Amino acid sequence: MAIIYDEAQSIFHLQTQASSYVMQVVRGKYLSHLYWGRRVEQYRGSRAIIWKDRGFAPNPDDTDRTFSLDTLPQEYPQTGNGDFRTCAYGVRQENGSRISSLLYDGYEILPGKRKLQGLPASFGTPEDVETLVIRLRDELIDLVVELEYNVFDQRGIITRSVRFLNEAQRPVTLTKMLSMSVDFREQDFDVLTLYGAHNNERNMDRRPLTSGIVQIESLRGTSSPQQSPFLALMRKNADEDQGEVYGVQFVYSGNFLASAQVDAFQNVRLQMGLHPWNGEWYLHPGETFQTPEVVMAYTHEGLNGLSHLFHTFYRRHLMRGKHADALRPILINNWEATFFQFTEEKLLNLARKASETGIELFVLDDGWFGHRDGDNSSLGDWFVDERKLPHGLPWLADQIHGMGMQFGLWFEPEMISQDSQLYREHPDYVLHAQGRPYTIGRGQLVLDLSRKDVCDHVIDSVRAVLASTHIDYVKWDMNRHLTEMESGAYGPCQQGEISHRYVLGLYYILETLTSQFPDILFEGCSSGGGRFDAGMLYYMPQSWCSDNTDAVCRMKIQYATSLTFPPVTMGAHVSVVPNQQTGRVTPLETRGYVAMSANFGYELDLNALSQQELDVVKAQIALYKEIRDTIQNGTLYRIKNPFNGNLAQWNFVSQDRKQVVAFHFEILSQPAAPVQLLKLKGLEADALYRDVDRGTVYGGDELMYSGISIPLKKQDFRSECYRFEKV
Ligand code: GLA
Repeated sequence: MAIIYDEAQSIFHLQTQASSYVMQVVRGKYLSHLYWGRRVEQYRGSRAIIWKDRGFAPNPDDTDRTFSLDTLPQEYPQTGNGDFRTCAYGVRQENGSRISSLLYDGYEILPGKRKLQGLPASFGTPEDVETLVIRLRDELIDLVVELEYNVFDQRGIITRSVRFLNEAQRPVTLTKMLSMSVDFREQDFDVLTLYGAHNNERNMDRRPLTSGIVQIESLRGTSSPQQSPFLALMRKNADEDQGEVYGVQFVYSGNFLASAQVDAFQNVRLQMGLHPWNGEWYLHPGETFQTPEVVMAYTHEGLNGLSHLFHTFYRRHLMRGKHADALRPILINNWEATFFQFTEEKLLNLARKASETGIELFVLDDGWFGHRDGDNSSLGDWFVDERKLPHGLPWLADQIHGMGMQFGLWFEPEMISQDSQLYREHPDYVLHAQGRPYTIGRGQLVLDLSRKDVCDHVIDSVRAVLASTHIDYVKWDMNRHLTEMESGAYGPCQQGEISHRYVLGLYYILETLTSQFPDILFEGCSSGGGRFDAGMLYYMPQSWCSDNTDAVCRMKIQYATSLTFPPVTMGAHVSVVPNQQTGRVTPLETRGYVAMSANFGYELDLNALSQQELDVVKAQIALYKEIRDTIQNGTLYRIKNPFNGNLAQWNFVSQDRKQVVAFHFEILSQPAAPVQLLKLKGLEADALYRDVDRGTVYGGDELMYSGISIPLKKQDFRSECYRFEKV
């Protein structure tokens, strides 16, 4: 049983194999947080709340000055009546009042987990997950708030979400609706977040948590590369392999907020949810509002421990469809090989070469539709450009299949160009503010996906292509952020809903298309890894990780992405040198090993390579096919962090634990270079492992504790790959 309720003390204990999460109803009314951390067998009340009269802490009850919401550790804090820290939700009544008070109103324990209407969310059978719903109520305005906790006992994961129900006869506006809030009664944490930009996604930023608030957010209408919807609290001593880490990740692809606030008494309030800016919801009588879900993981086994919890959880309880568990094809994408300038002949030449080298999927990127010779036209016109492809898409797909490869196609369905047939016919489809000029991004506008008719148009136009051509793979791109998030389709009270409605519209489109075309492998993309989030992962089991394919940059991007996302979800391609994004020249071998550490492919003109380079490419493809199962279905262990210096190392252990693949990268060659060691992780100490390429046999303990000495080499950006088979 994952959820234990102690009626005498009104204590809820949510227990997983790794963690315990404990709450108590205090004074019959207030839902209070007691503990989240390493699993305890039974919670008997050790971490009691210490009552104290604190200066400036107001009291709801005049007879007891030690009781204040300002000092009470809470589960879903309110605002306006004594807690001056950041609140978890907000309301605005018709009369303008913004005060609200939520009191405990009962609970329910349910087997399994309900679907979150219209939203991506984790799932599981009653054997996997048990659900606790705690009802809170604002009696004055008949607002019910249901806090939902889903306990995935064997996975060491708890997910949280919130449902608002307006049981009153009058409407109410929700002005903030976070999905989770936890009050820690301790402060010795570092905070870890992932920040970045286009071409520079997901940099690790670890810093001490001190007084005030650390807040990350996106106001860009999408989860964004600027900040990822992920935040971890880490003990000062925590590293890759040990120490306590609390990680939270939002299963959502739009505006978000995550924060850690240290209060005057050294408590930490950790929160995550929808961003309240431009994020209101008008709730009619009888209506409900469901927040997206937050995945919460606790481990005392450091960042690798955290990653293993997230990876397994996402693979088993978030990723769907036949491709989630299937080995992914090695692809070639024509984008960096041709950009918009291609002909049928050029594509077929590239495809022929690709099939000769062993590549399994040919992807035709941007530029095949409308009259798109550059990035400022034709988005929305999802029909083939016969100037470039006179024989049409079905013919091209047949040619590719005839070469023994699968065929994939690029779309950017959420967008519209002003120079397009769609815009000429439906200028009203654009997301815009009445009477104001458009703000353009990459020469394009965004479709108003808050409108069902616009979503249905997107579905129909993409479906027409998918149904008429033999397509095995779709790259779903999204190349600008949202501005003027308003819509003429909604009234004045609802304009604050548009950013969320856009995301709901997108999810509706994705749910429809991915379920109508279950055989197609979908890959998400947003100018690279700009929307690499758990929400998209529910619909698309892989995502392009970054437009930056420079091997050195990719070491970092993939390292940090792997904190919560399994390597199989990260599209990683070998591209030309000098690299298009950085101008750096790295060896083909290193570009290969970095890309092979994830979901492998190529993005270059194979016909421009020398025979010698082509031989290397062929060998890389053959190698990846041998290690693919270990990389894509095995367990990743990060060893050396490239954010900390000149080295990057990691290894993979296959599911059956028989194959081990390790990579070692040294970024710059150094004078008086130290001899580096590679200490593997996740092996069986008492087993023997044979180095597949060199024949030597080592003990697992030896490989892990003593490590292998890496021979010295005078070379920048050098790399090594070691493969071991258990003897
Ligand atoms: C984005 C993607 C690229 C490519 C281009 C096409 O930038 O990230 O991979 O598809 O769009 O315009």
